[in-house]
Amino acid sequence: MADDTVVRFEVQDGIGVITVDYPPVNALGPGVGEGIVAAVEQGEADPAVAAMVLMGAGRSFIAGADIRRFGKPRATPKRRSYDALEASSKPVVAAIHGYALGGGLENALCCHYRIAVPGAKVGLPEVLIGILPGGGGTQRLPRLIGPKAALEMIVSGRHVPAPEAKALGIIDEIVEGRDLRAEAIAYAKRIATLRPLPRVRDMTVKQADPGLFDTMRQSIARRARNQKAPYHCIAAVEAAVTQPFEEGLRTERRLFEELENSEEARALRYAFFAEREVARLPFLPKDLPLPEIRTAAVVGAGTMGGGIAMSFADHGIPVKLLDASPEALARGMGRIRDNYAVSVKRGSLAQAEMDRRLPLIEPVESYEAISDCDVVIEAVFEQLPVKQEIFAKLDAAMKPGALLLSNTSALDIDAIAAVTRRPEAVAGAHFFAPANVMKLLEVVEGAKTAPATLAAAMKLGRAIGKISAYAGNCDGFVANRSRVPFNIEQGLMVEEGALPEQIDKVMVDFGYPMGPFAVNDMSGLDVSYQTRKRRAAADPNYRGLPIPDRLVEMGRKGQKTGAGWYRYEKGDRTPHVDPETHRIIREVAAGMGIEQRSFTDQEILQRLLFSSVNEACKILEEGKALRASDIDVMWLNGFGFPRYRGGLMFWADGIGAREIYNQIAAWHQRYGARWRPAELLRRLAESGGSLREAQSPKSR
Ligand code: 3HC
Repeated sequence: MADDTVVRFEVQDGIGVITVDYPPVNALGPGVGEGIVAAVEQGEADPAVAAMVLMGAGRSFIAGADIRRFGKPRATPKRRSYDALEASSKPVVAAIHGYALGGGLENALCCHYRIAVPGAKVGLPEVLIGILPGGGGTQRLPRLIGPKAALEMIVSGRHVPAPEAKALGIIDEIVEGRDLRAEAIAYAKRIATLRPLPRVRDMTVKQADPGLFDTMRQSIARRARNQKAPYHCIAAVEAAVTQPFEEGLRTERRLFEELENSEEARALRYAFFAEREVARLPFLPKDLPLPEIRTAAVVGAGTMGGGIAMSFADHGIPVKLLDASPEALARGMGRIRDNYAVSVKRGSLAQAEMDRRLPLIEPVESYEAISDCDVVIEAVFEQLPVKQEIFAKLDAAMKPGALLLSNTSALDIDAIAAVTRRPEAVAGAHFFAPANVMKLLEVVEGAKTAPATLAAAMKLGRAIGKISAYAGNCDGFVANRSRVPFNIEQGLMVEEGALPEQIDKVMVDFGYPMGPFAVNDMSGLDVSYQTRKRRAAADPNYRGLPIPDRLVEMGRKGQKTGAGWYRYEKGDRTPHVDPETHRIIREVAAGMGIEQRSFTDQEILQRLLFSSVNEACKILEEGKALRASDIDVMWLNGFGFPRYRGGLMFWADGIGAREIYNQIAAWHQRYGARWRPAELLRRLAESGGSLREAQSPKSR
């Protein structure tokens, strides 16, 4: 008998229908593989069954192995579902809707035929969680679609839409009908007597172009540095070309076992679950009725406002872009059009898609024109009085029940909400630049924000493709506040003698796509210069940064002026080390009476990241973030922290709270107050507790 709690077997019209029913996405959880084996065996033994169908209940076919089971001991099954399906003497048709990913697609590849609905997606995304397909996918996919296409799919891990999968040869037929089960049964009846059964393992793999695998290794060298999984994926597909099937399977197994418990796989699994956990706000009542968001407005047609408007249009939500100045509005719309056009030119967006999205963004010049929108996001200049003026207008204009969100990165949400008569409808929605690209959305709760407003803002973020993360209202909120100490240490270490290119190299070697100084040059040094000037004017004790001040005052504002921390050739973004920068650093440091010394790479890394770990602990202590893992999600999706290191706090845990505390305490002695160890860090150091599992009292 099949295990009918997670896998059902029913016979209809001579076809045995095997249905995996393990919500929410039919991962291969406990009993699923065994259930498929039992069902296949039952179908084979039943003379009334001519052929079988394998399908998923609910929203998906099979989303792959149960990721929660990795890294833990598992019993080896007597028979694997892959073997049972492939060896079946009666044909099995995989009928795919939703997702067939990882072990899900691998099971489908063991079926004799595959059909799918047009909206289905298939893929082998194991590389994204630091492993490789371990159910024969690296051996079967190259046999089915050729080594080149298989290599690309397995190394990228991308989800392939059904029509493309059909063109590649993964799917035999796309079924248009609404009733997949009926279509699958009809298909199974049609092929029931066809023999021999087509088995992917028996196909001859096409010859690979010489150099295919080395070319792939070279092409991923930069992106995949410090990682093993992408290279193991290549090696496994190479084995499909160079080894007989069974030997290739053994190679795949060996490489899989090397990866399952690797540091990168553990970090990537953690990141996967952290990105889902971040959506949960345990302190909110369950099943809150939330306002429907069908139309949106963005106030401010600058770069940020334009990027936010694009995020709505990209997800099919009509959005009005409001700017009081017709010129600014025209410029903003022009910028949006150019952004889309660049994507079309690069091949990442179809012209038809651009033509569908652009009209969803409607430029308007009056508050009346947006008054009936379900949500408005203000994205104007970052100054409190300016934002307050806008919110007073929004309060007067917007329909009751509309969500009023401010895209501020640092201003007090309560002070913004206070100018309205409906502070319960106000929250922060902090996007990261470029807003249409960056995944992170910090949702900031003000003192009077209603639970439904907060929940609706979180949900809205997800509806426009973002990862919404909760933040309490404090200076810099959570993401930037935890990042500020990094920036401070970056500036101070240069005064003390570390060179920008050394610091950049340490961080690039660590896994960042760019070093922080190269990033500064890209964004322009003048913005933070202005902020420092403002802060210094407001606070006589403000500790400025005279070196970047000098650079800006000399006209070195970064890439746009041909020089900043680095020097740039005309029309080229490659940073070149500049002796002039070295001279300026020495001169300013001497003027400040700071003696320069050399730094080890480890000291640089630790000064940058430990300072942020300490601040993250303070943020958690104060209840401004809910979970350490939320902060990790922010660093991964807002700051380019290498994903295979899990995030700031996951990485810190690898070193341990005690060691970090000791170092921070030593720096506290040496450098003073800015290194005051967080109370939470001290407690974790004493108890041997985990940094990544730290939570604020609010999350319980
Ligand atoms: N294992 C365990 N749990 C899983 C899971 C998996 N493979 N896939 C999804 N889930 C869980 C999520 O954690 C989430 O749980 P929650 O509700 O408690 O937070 C729930 O299912 C729904 O997931 P999402 O919120 O991500 O739902 P979406 O609809 O946005 O996305 C998805 C669905 C595209 C399937 C996405 O969940 C996904 O990418 N899943 C991972 C797919 C994957 O990596 N498969 C390969 C696994 S490794 C493997 O198969 C090895 C094999 O080769 C041997």
